[in-house]
Amino acid sequence: MKKIEAIVRASRFDKVKEALSNREINFFTFYEVKGYGHEKGKNLSYRGAIYDVGYIARIKIELLVSDDYVEQAKAAVIESAKTGEKGDGIIYISDMTHIVNIRTGKTGSDAINS
Ligand SMILES: Nc1ncnc2c1ncn2[C@@H]1O[C@H](COP(=O)(O)OP(=O)(O)OP(=O)(O)O)[C@@H](O)[C@H]1O
Ligand SMILES: [Mg+2]
Repeated sequence: MKKIEAIVRASRFDKVKEALSNREINFFTFYEVKGYGHEKGKNLSYRGAIYDVGYIARIKIELLVSDDYVEQAKAAVIESAKTGEKGDGIIYISDMTHIVNIRTGKTGSDAINS
């Protein structure tokens, strides 16, 4: 089992969702995030207060998949999130040692299969 985390442009989120769905991956968590890449943020001064406007709204997607689905999920995110411009985001993948489905009590890959 793996956890895939991807930070993508908010403007690409619908495409990413569709690309995952085309590969029968219809479950994930997402939330709005802020962050910095190598491009430095900019500060804007407005009425004496300093505002950080250097970030671009991004969405973080988190999904748990069995090992067989990792390449599919990664390919889906890359093909749908890539514009080729700096700041397209990042994908990172880690081992997931324990997953429990709250309703069924099933664990491991059984926890994420319907
Ligand atoms: N090393 C990292 N660790 C955690 N989050 C990161 C990392 N690098 C990028 N991110 C996330 O991805 C977002 C976009 O950064 P990204 O790396 O795509 O932009 P960039 O470094 O400016 O350009 P590029 O990497 O395309 O040359 C960041 O705002 C941050 O949320
Ligand atoms: Mg970067």
